[in-house]
Amino acid sequence: MERSTLTDQPRLVVISNRVAVPKARGAAGAQGGLAGALLAALSDRKGLWFGWSGQESESGRTGHIDTQTNDGVTTATIDLSQRDIDEYYNGYANSTLWPLFHYRLDLAEYERETGKGYERVNERFADQVTPLIEPDDAVWVHDYHLIPLGERLRSRGLKNRIGFFLHIPWPPTRLFVSLPYHERLVRTLLYYDVVGFQTQEWLESFLHYCENELGAEVDGEKGTVSFEGRTTIARAYPIGIDWDHFSQLGDAGEARQAQQRLLSSSRRRTAMIGVDRLDYSKGIPERIDGIGRFFDKHPERVQDLVFIQIAPPSREDVDSYQAIRAELEQKCGRINGARSEVDMVPIRYVNRGYSHEELFGFFRAAKIGLVTPLRDGMNLVAKEYIAAQDPEDPGVLILSRFAGAAAQMPDAVLVNPHSPDDIAHAIQTALDMTLEERKARYQKLIATVRDDNVQDWTANFLRDLSEA
Ligand code: G6P
Repeated sequence: MERSTLTDQPRLVVISNRVAVPKARGAAGAQGGLAGALLAALSDRKGLWFGWSGQESESGRTGHIDTQTNDGVTTATIDLSQRDIDEYYNGYANSTLWPLFHYRLDLAEYERETGKGYERVNERFADQVTPLIEPDDAVWVHDYHLIPLGERLRSRGLKNRIGFFLHIPWPPTRLFVSLPYHERLVRTLLYYDVVGFQTQEWLESFLHYCENELGAEVDGEKGTVSFEGRTTIARAYPIGIDWDHFSQLGDAGEARQAQQRLLSSSRRRTAMIGVDRLDYSKGIPERIDGIGRFFDKHPERVQDLVFIQIAPPSREDVDSYQAIRAELEQKCGRINGARSEVDMVPIRYVNRGYSHEELFGFFRAAKIGLVTPLRDGMNLVAKEYIAAQDPEDPGVLILSRFAGAAAQMPDAVLVNPHSPDDIAHAIQTALDMTLEERKARYQKLIATVRDDNVQDWTANFLRDLSEA
């Protein structure tokens, strides 16, 4: 889609928990896909982005809103108190909804207090953002932190078009009903005019719930759910990368330096790469097991390969995130201890984020990209890895069949991320792949990455919202 300032469009108000200011673009690996995508969506329109500052302060209670404008994007952020952060962000959002929505019932905690904190912070968001919204604005709420917000805004009399997009999976009904008050949460979703999901699979799970648990009227053809006199559009809008921005990064000096840095430090060894927030949903320990299995089967190849895992820490106050970090340190340490030489380490495990430019260079230098989440709404790293490849000598993407991206990228080498043998076999397949096959797969993958980009995602969602 052609870029324009779209001045004839209504103003866009984006509301999400995490807000990225443009200068924070550098924290690419650490901030997850949502922030980068919304920054791209907003950079093209005049708009306002409201959310949490990421800071703790008791001054949050006074209703102070910090406003900044950078590169045409105005952000309005509020602080949260420590109790709000504990109950809403670390608690209900990231210890209840996140694990449940990623099919991890074993990790989901159900605490009444954190549920109350979640509702309280959603009320606060509604109180603070309502005065900033003008009658013609299109309002777009994002992700699992803010599911009830639309209903809270309606209860304050807002008549605007309000849409919601879920960046993570929607779990099957049989799992979802383990959530206490599940019906209450879903009812609030049906106050939005449009509810969007990353894939058909997550959409179908949602519609299944609406039909079978709520008794709503679902029209699968039209993509609508009717309930208690209201009709909500519910459709899949797969998110993409900011192609125009990302695909140009190869020209940047920083990208070239990063590529050289990786190539010269690995000498003649073939580099494989993984880049993920340090999150249990990303399947990083399972990936390390797969690499360990490959080395067990092909000890002679240890000298030829190097695996780089970039994993900036995330949500560090949540127990399950501390546990995954400890587990990974152990696994990487064990393999490196057993397989290193005085001048060679098979796994480089790095706990920090890099800029998009640097990631582009690393992706281009790596002949294999490993994106093996156990469950993921979409996963934009898979798309960025492809976007960074040299068309004349492209690397191979190994992709989990349980990432939303797999539905759009069937020409990747698809794997079951739970199976070390499957991962080991995929590495072998990638190493053996002819240049001809790599190019053929790349051509198909790059077409999706280029054409289904973040501008299209925004335009498709907002078109449905304006017609709702
Ligand atoms: C995922 C979520 C986003 C979140 C991001 C980073 O992509 O869908 O909502 O912003 O992870 O996580 P954090 O907790 O640091 O915002």
